[in-house]
Amino acid sequence: MPMKTNHIIHGDALAELKKLPTACAQSIIADPPYFNVLEDEAWDTQWKTSADYLTWCEAWVHQAMRILREDGLCFIFGQLGKREHTFLHLMSRLTQQQTFHDLVIWDRAVGYDERRDSFTPQYEMILVLRKGEKVKFIKDAVRIPYDEATIATYLRDKRYKDKAARKGHLEKGKYATNILRVPSLKGQSKEKCGHPSQKPLQLIEKLILCSTEAGDTVLDPFLGSGTTALAAQRTSRKWVGIEQDSNYLHLAQKRLQADPSNSTNEPPRS
Ligand SMILES: C[S@@+](CC[C@H](N)C(=O)[O-])C[C@H]1O[C@@H](n2cnc3c(N)ncnc32)[C@H](O)[C@@H]1O
Repeated sequence: MPMKTNHIIHGDALAELKKLPTACAQSIIADPPYFNVLEDEAWDTQWKTSADYLTWCEAWVHQAMRILREDGLCFIFGQLGKREHTFLHLMSRLTQQQTFHDLVIWDRAVGYDERRDSFTPQYEMILVLRKGEKVKFIKDAVRIPYDEATIATYLRDKRYKDKAARKGHLEKGKYATNILRVPSLKGQSKEKCGHPSQKPLQLIEKLILCSTEAGDTVLDPFLGSGTTALAAQRTSRKWVGIEQDSNYLHLAQKRLQADPSNSTNEPPRS
């Protein structure tokens, strides 16, 4: 049976992933609980031990990889909190069980914690897993434009005789590196909608644009405020989200409905 898309499933990620068909998502963007990093959030402190958390992660990742298409990519967010380093163990375990594709760094542009005895943390990690030999990766979709001054400087390079061709090439921008610099959302940001771990749309859009084409399906098993769904809706991708907290689910629905991109898509249903 085909998977119902543009829709939020209310429930537990592992239980709901088990019900989804095999090889139906082109890209999976998973921003799971980090494990004891957001210490005030019940959803981030629900495991007694890191061993329990790791076992749970292995189970949902196993399901996610089943649901991923053969040429798809699965992005898994993780961060190290106040020396909470379970994500390092998770990466080690997952890369022994699944096929490693990349480790992307989300550079949040500003630090987020006051550590007296170390550098101020400024990044999150995104472990990327692949399934098959060949993956869909659209490098051109996430090029970074050069500014005019840089283009002018490069055009003075005498080695390039065909200036028009060189200009056309430079105007396409440069390939993005696997360090994605996107400012995290500040308290006063217009985009911020009330979720403690809301990711910037611009960041999630990059992950969607590099790993899918219009019409492909993106799955997010921990939808939160709906950032993945909104980024997918804005870029004409189909999407499916899972969220266990009904407050966040309603927040996500409101965001999706309020966005101008909603008029061209099927309205979200729960
Ligand atoms: C790190 S947040 C995701 C934030 C999201 N990327 C955004 O931009 O808003 C993790 C989310 O997973 C949800 N969650 C935690 N455990 C879950 C479970 N077992 N099944 C489904 N959702 C869960 C939490 O309620 C929380 O909203």
